[in-house]
Amino acid sequence: MKITTILLAAGQGTRMKSSLPKVLHPVAGKPLIWHAMQAIQKFTTEKPIVVVGHGAEEVTSYLGDSAQTVLQEPQLGTGHAVMQAESLLKGKSDLVVVCYGDMPLLRGETLQKLVETQKNNKGPISMLTVVSDDPRGFGRVIRKADGSVEAIVEEYVATPDQLQVKELNVGGYCFDANWLWDALHRIPKNPKKGEYYLTDAVELATRAGLSVQATVMDDLEETIGINTRVHLSECEAAMRRRINQEHMLNGVTMMDPASTYIEAGVTIGRDTLIMPNTYLHGKTEIGEHNVIGPNSIIRDTKIGNGCKVLASVLEGAWLEDDVDMGPFARLRKGAHLGNHVHMGNFGEVKDSFLADGVKMGHFSYIGNAQIGSNTNIGAGTITCNYDGEKKHATEIGEDVFIGSDTMLVAPLKIGDGARTGAGAVVTKNIAEDTLVVGMPARAIRKLERKAKKK
Ligand code: UD1
Ligand code: CA
Repeated sequence: MKITTILLAAGQGTRMKSSLPKVLHPVAGKPLIWHAMQAIQKFTTEKPIVVVGHGAEEVTSYLGDSAQTVLQEPQLGTGHAVMQAESLLKGKSDLVVVCYGDMPLLRGETLQKLVETQKNNKGPISMLTVVSDDPRGFGRVIRKADGSVEAIVEEYVATPDQLQVKELNVGGYCFDANWLWDALHRIPKNPKKGEYYLTDAVELATRAGLSVQATVMDDLEETIGINTRVHLSECEAAMRRRINQEHMLNGVTMMDPASTYIEAGVTIGRDTLIMPNTYLHGKTEIGEHNVIGPNSIIRDTKIGNGCKVLASVLEGAWLEDDVDMGPFARLRKGAHLGNHVHMGNFGEVKDSFLADGVKMGHFSYIGNAQIGSNTNIGAGTITCNYDGEKKHATEIGEDVFIGSDTMLVAPLKIGDGARTGAGAVVTKNIAEDTLVVGMPARAIRKLERKAKKK
């Protein structure tokens, strides 16, 4: 059975009071619409149709080729919105699932249940409902004596009796495709608002004696729709709980999930401990048996196994195994630390490779450099990689000892086993196994010549 989906995302989202289209506001680091797209992938491989209107260009460009978009202009209600997809979807599927782009907590499994309900329904519609004491302005679900759904009544037209009904329309539907494409044209214009409501399709079906079924959801949280930034923050908290729970059930320890912020899509291996006040963003992959945090911010970074990252900031970096860093270390884009690298406090590394066993204990800046294994970078060492116009590279060999406060003026090569004394300003290449002490470049040359003569 072929299933296609329509995501409604044309509404203005006025109450967000934002220049950003509503469905592009992030929750757990990803736009609302991304979450909706994830849920859809649970039951169909067909690309969804996203109905766009306000902010259409931005939404379309965000979606790229992950979805097909169709413009609804003007926006004349949810029924009218679905109609815009007709030319693209008519005759292309057996079932059509319709849901909203602004309900990021709705699970794919729930939509899957909805699809199952419809597969067993002889009538043309199945819908998601929830029972709640807090009606939140949702449409009320009116049932017939036999328990099937009779109608959805929007709050503003509901009678006092209908307002008492606790079963609410969540905003997820599964339609028999053939029936839907025909019925949409029969939805009457709402006399009060001049719009065409998808919810009126329910009455069209039941009046014709066709059965409308409901999947009653038990998790109220899933039904949170975003209308304001207050909802957005509620949703963020709920999503965070959900993401953290999933990691914990997969074998990750969290000392305090409430202060652990992990974006959707981050992966973490077993027996890794995430300490409080840690932020894991973007495309971050963390292996097993690591201790991350407290107080760390990590973005787009790959971490192997057995590492310790204490109170540090990492972005676009790669740590191999058993790296030990912090407190207060900073890795920027292109920093790559090999196995057993030790990086202590107040160090910064950018666009550089530190091979296995490199030690960089205190107050150093390493940029555009390659550092060989087991080299020691003394406190306060700086690669002077920028001459005001261009960046230059520094190459340091294996087993080198860079003394405290050495200025390495790039471009520069330092051979294996060389040593620099404290305070050296190194402007010329240093050969293997050479000692350079803290003095001006001229003196260094002299020393080198002497060494050669030997
Ligand atoms: C709708 C339902 C209501 C349900 C509630 C759940 C209708 C008439 N009512 O009300 O029964 O309880 O959702 O949240 O459907 N949209 C378009 N084009 C339009 C109008 C809306 O794409 O012309 C999109 C919006 O961007 C939004 C979704 O459809 O994602 C829902 O529209 P909204 O106006 O928020 O409907 P509600 O009043 O919340
Ligand atoms: Ca809404």
